[in-house]
Amino acid sequence: MQDIISIVGTGFVGLTTAAVFANAGYRTYTIDTDENKINTIKSGKSPFYEPGIDGFVERAITIGNLIPTTSYSESIPNSNIVFICVGTPSNEDGSVDLKYVFESVSSIIENANSDLIIVQKSTVPVETARRLEKMIQEKNKKNIKIDVVSAPEFLREASAVFDTLFFDRLVVGARNNEAANKIIEIYKNVDSFSKVINYEKFIDYAFNNTSKKYLDNLPLFEKRILRTKVESAELLKVTANSFLAMKISFANSIARICDETGAISKEVMDGIGMDSRIGRSFLYPGLGYSGGCFPKDVSGMINTANEYNVDFGILEEVKKINSGQINIVVNKLKRLIGENLEGKKITVLGLSFKPGTSDIRKSQSIYLIKRLIKLGTIVNAFDPKATDEAKKEFNDKNLNYMNSIESACQSSDCVVIATEWNEFVNFDYNSIKETLNNKNILDCRNCLNKDKITESGFNYIGF
Ligand code: UGA
Repeated sequence: MQDIISIVGTGFVGLTTAAVFANAGYRTYTIDTDENKINTIKSGKSPFYEPGIDGFVERAITIGNLIPTTSYSESIPNSNIVFICVGTPSNEDGSVDLKYVFESVSSIIENANSDLIIVQKSTVPVETARRLEKMIQEKNKKNIKIDVVSAPEFLREASAVFDTLFFDRLVVGARNNEAANKIIEIYKNVDSFSKVINYEKFIDYAFNNTSKKYLDNLPLFEKRILRTKVESAELLKVTANSFLAMKISFANSIARICDETGAISKEVMDGIGMDSRIGRSFLYPGLGYSGGCFPKDVSGMINTANEYNVDFGILEEVKKINSGQINIVVNKLKRLIGENLEGKKITVLGLSFKPGTSDIRKSQSIYLIKRLIKLGTIVNAFDPKATDEAKKEFNDKNLNYMNSIESACQSSDCVVIATEWNEFVNFDYNSIKETLNNKNILDCRNCLNKDKITESGFNYIGF
């Protein structure tokens, strides 16, 4: 029998996975309770901005393999594999809210008529699968077999399609080997599909020169598969994000010492990055980490450690260092324009938590703007994609959302680069020099060429 897949949740993970599976040849239901999102997908578009995804959704709808629906009763009885890709937000106390995971699994049990594999992809605390299995045991009154597999997702926003096609690893935690084999088989087909598509057609953030190098070095499919215990799969996902967040906070602390001593953070990071045991990635100091994953997963991991009485103070520090980066930026700003920020005009370029996305969840840029407004400054902000999202989150009489870099920089006392969009990296700052009040640039992502900028007569501070 050809597998028929249902995917619950149409966020970055759910919709990207569904669109790629459908393009790779699987009949795939994409389920969401939000009717607006489902209607947008039906029209061949993604409800959120993500480079390359529209092409995949459109093609999947055209060939008829992607079936968007709000109905579990339409999708689940026809499927033998269901992926859970729903949100797992933080509770006030930092623990993870599993409401959507439990609700969706409950609806799946209610509507299942034959044997089923539930693949848990949402990021969850260790032992969630065990709790799901208990719930299945209690609620499953029909004589059908339901297996739970944990296959955490490692895709990055802004390169979601690329990462789904050319995944660096597939972790499958399963108690039942046959269920694990089924999931591995699906990804084998995705891997074969990834080799025949013309990815040059989807050139964007995700399909650039670095991707080419990555693809040339991508190990064989078999080498990218890791079979684990269910609990290991759950735990290793949150461990990966916590570790990466720790690297960033580590780099930010070293950059603070660089600032005091005249050492250059880039040189220090380049030097330690040449040690293959350390590696160069995620050692870029700046405004700090944000987004829907790192802040949530660090808090979630702290919560898990507390629950099992494990002292994991290092992660408390990671969090503290990250929120402290806003102070560091404010201090650098004062070095450029003086102690009193009241009435000063500040340009903030970048609102999204990283380039290539309109996502502003836990965005350090927004936290920075809120602080700047509190300090009495007037902020002119611009982002190529995230302005609409930011407008929904925060408005103030002293915050102006602008339509271009040029307009955001008019009469500015300091231009702050908060997100390293290509548009800001490649911009000719000379062209707006004369429209500024003061020629100051604070580069919170170390993404501009310092020598070129200072030669042009700007005062420049980076990290
Ligand atoms: C992250 C992980 O990288 C993915 O592997 C994972 O699947 C995903 O979370 C998830 O759990 O869903 P993502 O949140 O999309 O992906 O973003 P990243 O590219 O990891 O960046 C996270 C934040 O760290 C951004 O705000 C970025 O600006 C910041 N960062 C990154 C730094 O400040 N310095 C660095 O050196 C690297």
